[in-house]
Parts: sequence; structure tokens; C-alpha cells
Amino acid sequence: MKIGILGCGLMGGKLGVLFAQAGHDVIFSYSRRRTKLDGLVRRAGPTASAGTPAQAVAAADIILLAVHWSRVDDVLAQAGDMTGKTVVTCCVPLDASDSELVVGHTDSGAEQIARRLPGARVAAAFQTTPSEVFAEVFAVRDRPVKANCLLCADDAEARRAAETLISAIGFAPVDAGPLRMARYTEPFALLTAQLAYGTADGPDWAYRLGKLRYVIE
Ligand SMILES: NC(=O)c1ccc[n+]([C@@H]2O[C@H](COP(=O)([O-])OP(=O)(O)OC[C@H]3O[C@@H](n4cnc5c(N)ncnc54)[C@H](OP(=O)(O)O)[C@@H]3O)[C@@H](O)[C@H]2O)c1
Repeated sequence: MKIGILGCGLMGGKLGVLFAQAGHDVIFSYSRRRTKLDGLVRRAGPTASAGTPAQAVAAADIILLAVHWSRVDDVLAQAGDMTGKTVVTCCVPLDASDSELVVGHTDSGAEQIARRLPGARVAAAFQTTPSEVFAEVFAVRDRPVKANCLLCADDAEARRAAETLISAIGFAPVDAGPLRMARYTEPFALLTAQLAYGTADGPDWAYRLGKLRYVIE
């Protein structure tokens, strides 16, 4: 797959490097420092490159949207036409201090993004997992028992794209259903962030969900 990364911070940078190490082509974009994008390309290896958001979108089969909620308008404006594209968003609609959801109850960030991109297929994934676990999950990806990662989508192709990205890191995907389930996964993201950053136990939190026989095996 060709994966375009919009936003190369903790999420986009780390996930993009691991997608490339898993064998995908990755195009990094949307950092204030070109040197940062070039460094990610070096770490990711020969299947990676860097460009503008528009170049990343044009080249990609799947686009990972990984910016602060306040930057969504800007990055989508720079990305240009996304008609026919498949977008996986990990964005959580947080305020400037990253402490409160600014969308919720009857709507979600993921649904707002889907409405902003009426010609695109949109899934939500990786919202509920702190970036600190990705490298370790990837390192143990061949083990049979895996951490889970929730996703939701209305569109079958978007769902497959999210499952592809989640599996590439080494998580087992859990399909929560239609995109409106992001109304529940986005608040859950704040719980996972609280566990990761609000306790003295370190940020390497992951979760497993499932039928009892699966969870306790
Ligand atoms: N971090 C987590 O563990 C985590 C977990 C779950 C969900 N999320 C969600 O994932 C999304 C991305 O989070 P993140 O932690 O990867 O964010 P981040 O580290 O702040 O990265 C955001 C990216 O946007 C870029 N950007 C470009 N122009 C910018 C501007 N004017 N102001 C600010 N940033 C600008 C940043 O550029 P630079 O490279 O120049 O900084 C960076 O590459 C957010 O919606 C967040 O809520 C994060």
C-alpha cells in the first residue's frame, strides 16, 4: 500500500516509520520543519519519502490524518481534493490544552471529518492508543496474543484500510461498527490518555477486548 501521512508528530511520525518497516510505501507530510520529515524518511528506509500534503494525498492509497484538532482545517486545505481517497483519522477533537473534547454526544470528530470530505471514505482508528506503545507492539507483532485497536467506519473499503494499518503495527483490530461509534471511541481515547499520562505507571497502556474466553486465554 502507499500510505500518505498528514501530520508527522507523535502519531504520524511513529506510525509512518513502522508502516514503512512493515513493507508499505510511506509519504510523510505536514511538519513545520522539512528536516524532521527528512529524518523520518531516513528512519523509515527506502520505501519512504517526504512531500507536501497535496503530494502525499495524490500518491497515496490510504491517508492517515494525524494532526491536532485545531490543525484539521489547515491540513485539509493544503491537501486539496480528496475525492475517491480513503482516509483513516486518528484525530481526537480536543481543545487547545488537550484536556476536553470539543465535539461529542450527538456528533464526533470522525463524523465531522467525513462530512468535510464528502467524496472520501473515512475510518477512525488509533484514537484510543497512546503513541508510546507502537514500537513495542510492532516488536512483538508475531506473537499470537495481541493488543487490540478499535476502529469504526461506514464504508467497507475504509474499514479494510483501517484494519490494514492496525494489523501492520501488530494490533488485532476490533471493529466497533459505523463511524458514529466514534462518539464513544473518542471519549474512550481520553480515558486511555488519562491512564497513560495521568498515572505514575508510565504511558505504555494497551487494551484487549473480547468474549471472555478470548480475554482470559
Ligand atoms: N499522541 C498520542 O499518543 C495520541 C493518541 C491518540 C490520538 N492522538 C491524536 O492524534 C492526533 C495527532 O496527535 P500527535 O500527538 O501526533 O500530535 P503532534 O505530535 O502535535 O503532531 C502534529 C503534527 O502536525 C504538525 N503541524 C504542522 N503545522 C502545525 C502547526 N501550525 N501547529 C501545530 N502542529 C502543526 C506538527 O508539525 P511539527 O512536526 O512541526 O511539530 C506535527 O507534525 C491528534 O488529534 C491527537 O489528539 C494522539
